[in-house]
Amino acid sequence: MTQQKQMILSLAMFGAAGLNFKSWTDPEVKLSSYPDINIDIEAAKLAEKGKFHFMFFGDFPGNKASDTSDMQTMGLDPMMIASIISNHTERIGMGITRATSWSNPYDVARQFKTLDALSKGRMAWNAVTGANGVSANAYGVNLAPSFDRYGKAYEFTEAVQALWATWGEDALKLNHSTKEFADYDQVKAISLKGKYVQSSGTLPIPPSKQGQPLIFHSGGSENSIAFAGKYADVFVGEVWTIEQGQAIRQALRDAAVANGRQPDDIKFIAGVMPLLGDNKKEAIERHAQFIDDDTFLQRVAHIGYVLGIDFTPADLEKPIDPKLLDQVVVTPYSDPRLENVLKVAREGWSLRELVYHSVIDYHPAAVGTAQDIADYMTEWFEAGAADGFWVMPDVYKVDLTRFVDEVVPILQEEGSFHKDYEGETLRENLGVAYQYGTRERE
Ligand SMILES: Cc1cc2nc3c(=O)[nH]c(=O)nc-3n(C[C@H](O)[C@H](O)[C@H](O)COP(=O)(O)O)c2cc1C
Repeated sequence: MTQQKQMILSLAMFGAAGLNFKSWTDPEVKLSSYPDINIDIEAAKLAEKGKFHFMFFGDFPGNKASDTSDMQTMGLDPMMIASIISNHTERIGMGITRATSWSNPYDVARQFKTLDALSKGRMAWNAVTGANGVSANAYGVNLAPSFDRYGKAYEFTEAVQALWATWGEDALKLNHSTKEFADYDQVKAISLKGKYVQSSGTLPIPPSKQGQPLIFHSGGSENSIAFAGKYADVFVGEVWTIEQGQAIRQALRDAAVANGRQPDDIKFIAGVMPLLGDNKKEAIERHAQFIDDDTFLQRVAHIGYVLGIDFTPADLEKPIDPKLLDQVVVTPYSDPRLENVLKVAREGWSLRELVYHSVIDYHPAAVGTAQDIADYMTEWFEAGAADGFWVMPDVYKVDLTRFVDEVVPILQEEGSFHKDYEGETLRENLGVAYQYGTRERE
């Protein structure tokens, strides 16, 4: 198996026209209809031009869409979007989330294997448990405690992988002279009866070019890390500092070893929001146009909350007093974004500009020129805080274009990102070994 020596890049696919809730309002986008699959296809083609390894689709079914809580495409089924995109791209992979708490393993096995076969080996299933009560309600199930959520996830994943292998690797014959389509002796039913999951029968779909889809995972708890150690090829995570990245990456590597795997068999992907401009000031001002008044005030309040400082409107246009910053104590129970808030605040930005740096957001922002952003990513990568990134540009058409045209060439020139795809399948491109079924790991 090849070891990943260069960073992995992935494009987050959650929004109407980009990762910002307000991406659709950008004058360059002029979104006149929604949904519009052309936006997704364009983003995929851009990402493929930038040699991104894969696109990453979350899935939060049942959630009420709103400008500030849920991004617009979460209502759309990402499997459907990915299936169309796969027909308009050739190399880029797709990691798609389906939660084990409310999905059915046969559906998951069938849909992913279908798409994997049709896309010639470019699919991954992001096997999350899902901790969202609204989604659970939408499917008419109760959200179980972590122990049962993960208990089910193990059985679910075993069932999916077993179903994938019910069609023997050499079963397909397509012999025109004997008119033998397949050797059906090699198509063997499973019969699984677990505590949480049952499935009997076959999934008659031949292997894809990469055998079967990869397994991704996202989560945060100890149960999540242990699950990932057994099954995940890629862990897509959420961290704000290099130290947090190092800790979770190491925990994942240890969990892989505990399951008889090699540490490099699991790749940790951290989120990053690139705020790109000709300088830092321009970069944050571009981002600021997507922050409405309500969100702005909420973020001021949240910064005050994590720092333990009561701000007034008079504080907005000046830097936070360094003496106050020095009094802030970081504990294991602090908001995980606190250290990043402190770091950026100490650069001397005004409180308003601190908000524009997106220090209170779902993921950390890398702010500045293309070189600044490349440096940020390289620093994390070289520190062992991440094997790669899921990139969240505000607007695909503008910010992803700039990222692909400006940041990617720097990373390539510096040698930390590949210049072309290594192979045709997602496994080849990520350096993940061929797998078919629930076979024992090497
Ligand atoms: C980066 C990331 C992405 C996630 N994406 C999804 C998702 O798309 N759909 C979903 O239901 N849950 C998603 N989750 C939530 C996980 O399913 C998980 O249940 C949650 O993080 C709680 O962690 P735990 O299961 O380890 O307790 C995501 C979590 C993380 C960290």
